[in-house]
Amino acid sequence: MEGYIFDWLNLFLRWFHVLAGIAWIGASFYFVWLDLSLEKPSDENEARGIKGQLSAIHGGGFYEVVKYKLGPQVMPANLHWFKWEAYTTWLTGFSLLAVMYYWGAQQYLIDPAKMAFSPAEAIGSSLLFLAVGFAVYELLIKSPLRNSNKGFASVLFVFLVFMAWLADQLFADRAAYIHVGALIGSIMAGNVFFGIMPSQRELVRAVTAGETPDARYAMLAKLRSTHNNYLTLPLVFIMISNHYPMTYGHEYAWLVLAMIAVITGLVRHFLNLKTQGAGVKPGYLISAFILTVVLAFWMAPKPVATVGSVINADQALHITHLRCAECHAAAPTSDMFKIPPAGIILESEAQLLQYKDRMLSALQTGYMPLANITAMTEDERAQLIVWLQSR
Ligand code: HEC
Repeated sequence: MEGYIFDWLNLFLRWFHVLAGIAWIGASFYFVWLDLSLEKPSDENEARGIKGQLSAIHGGGFYEVVKYKLGPQVMPANLHWFKWEAYTTWLTGFSLLAVMYYWGAQQYLIDPAKMAFSPAEAIGSSLLFLAVGFAVYELLIKSPLRNSNKGFASVLFVFLVFMAWLADQLFADRAAYIHVGALIGSIMAGNVFFGIMPSQRELVRAVTAGETPDARYAMLAKLRSTHNNYLTLPLVFIMISNHYPMTYGHEYAWLVLAMIAVITGLVRHFLNLKTQGAGVKPGYLISAFILTVVLAFWMAPKPVATVGSVINADQALHITHLRCAECHAAAPTSDMFKIPPAGIILESEAQLLQYKDRMLSALQTGYMPLANITAMTEDERAQLIVWLQSR
């Protein structure tokens, strides 16, 4: 029953989280595009304090958008804010993290081969990891470093790679990636809560009081918003990475993540320059493509050292019976899983062959057995891999 409730909570929160995330990132992409696409205002608009304008067509209607240099003369009666998309994404994301990795700490958060944490220690480390990571970002953005785009980007990159490495030492592989994602997501939601919203409230206050808003506030909000823009692509990659054990299960998973951050950074920069009208600079896209190919080659699974003679099907079944069937059976005996996870049953030779490719990937990356809860030996792993490859 507990496993069943776990699954429903997990499903509901994930669904909600993805929907809220689409709303947030969708609005954010739209406004970045809007900002970068603004055209020179007409003389009439310029006189009204307009910085840029553009026309668009969507859903069967024409739209005319203008952006003020600082703010309108009079505060509009109805001003739309975009903040709940961000807050909802963070709240559902954190709840999902808590259900999956705190409630399911034994299965998903802890890898005894890395750190023999008790669930309480693992959860404490997770909270500390997120809190410290978040505090470092807030300190950085309040420091003079924020005045240098390149300097800030380099320091933030090195810091996040370090956090990815640290997460890899502390937590199970999949949890390590999600922790980097949760940190980036918290930084982004924090940018909205602690930076962008206060700046916007100050702008609104100034306009309402009939004062000229201080341009510094608009600039600070813009800076945080730009950081969010570059952090989005790696974050979305981490969100979907749980489908690809070859990434988070890699021996140097943190380095894979660092390379993916560089690749997505290049793509983002290419898109920003293009929208800005700074020209199409294919160099960025080509570099991203080359790096992706290099990454794919570098990540390719190494052949397993030969293990003498190949085992037979009965011996293979004996291994899966010992190490996998607790979960991957028609009627699992595991406390956590009452139905076979991912719908995968490994009780007959035909079933092993049916799932051959996915088993190979899960075994080669070390993703399975989950947290090696069934204490599979390296020998058994190699034997099973060689047998699967021989079939
Ligand atoms: C403690 C329970 C548990 C044990 C033991 C276990 N698994 Fe799994 N397995 C899971 C869960 C949970 C999932 C679904 C994970 C997910 O959603 O990413 C899964 C998913 C899989 C997948 C699908 C991965 C994918 O997305 O393609 C394969 C293949 C797999 N397991 C193979 C194995 C093999 C082989 C063994 C034994 C060597 C094993 N598992 C042992 C719990 C277990």
